[in-house]
Amino acid sequence: MTAAVTVTDEGAVRVIRLNRPEKKNALTHAMYAEMARALREADDSDAIRCGVIAGVPGAFCAGNDITDFLNAASGGGLDSRTPEFLHTLARRQKPLVAAIDGVAVGVGTTILFHCDHVVASAGATLSTPFLKLGLIPEAGSTLLAPMRMGYARAFSLLVMGRPLTATEAKDAGIVNTIVDSADVEATALKAAQEIAALPPKTLAVARSLMRGHFDEVIKQIDAEAAHFRELLQSDEARAAFAAFLARKK
Ligand code: COA
Repeated sequence: MTAAVTVTDEGAVRVIRLNRPEKKNALTHAMYAEMARALREADDSDAIRCGVIAGVPGAFCAGNDITDFLNAASGGGLDSRTPEFLHTLARRQKPLVAAIDGVAVGVGTTILFHCDHVVASAGATLSTPFLKLGLIPEAGSTLLAPMRMGYARAFSLLVMGRPLTATEAKDAGIVNTIVDSADVEATALKAAQEIAALPPKTLAVARSLMRGHFDEVIKQIDAEAAHFRELLQSDEARAAFAAFLARKK
């Protein structure tokens, strides 16, 4: 069986690839755990200086696996591997570049607020249909998105669930560079190599000064998770998960 997350090191750059194309890279608990492990290891390694998170052609990530949501709603509870990953993502020391092609849904979009640099294909779309699923935005996005893009645009994305094209995401300050689909990964890797070539100590200081609010981000992740846990159990959310899983093509 092919691993749903692969981790390879290219010189000083660690490439974390979501690799579950048959489910558009919807994230399972095991995938969260694997990503967290790869990020922690990168932090502990002197040899790794930057990361890239990438998907597959046409799918960066379709969000949390809705079957897992339904299982959580049906009594399993929210698995600890998801908040553990979010904490690791928010606390990590090494910069992370995202390479986005195709869909970035839910956590596939909110991850981007934690990245240091984002490369997207012209056809990439970012969307967060949380409220339509009876849920609220997560991953610290209720704090980070208004800071990044202003309240009005954050409300439209996170609450109204209106998607962003790559161009809109660039205008909103989420995406740095838009390239052809075929060039997304090479461009992201080049940016990561550029970051990796910077003096590591000064990079760490500059980055930590720019992201100094991370305790606040962790608090927000936890506050969101408390509501999220409760909302997962609602009839509204359960019905939305079941409707997605039962939909006709
Ligand atoms: N959880 C579980 N399975 C998912 C999934 C998710 N988040 N996203 C996609 N899949 C599965 C589909 O059920 C389908 O599986 P199947 O072939 O066994 O039926 C497969 O991935 C391909 O998805 P499909 O919907 O056929 O692809 P598409 O290109 O038409 O649409 C999306 C892609 C991402 C727009 C669509 O799948 C979607 O809306 N997914 C749900 C996104 C979501 O709401 N995520 C949670 C956010 S909080």
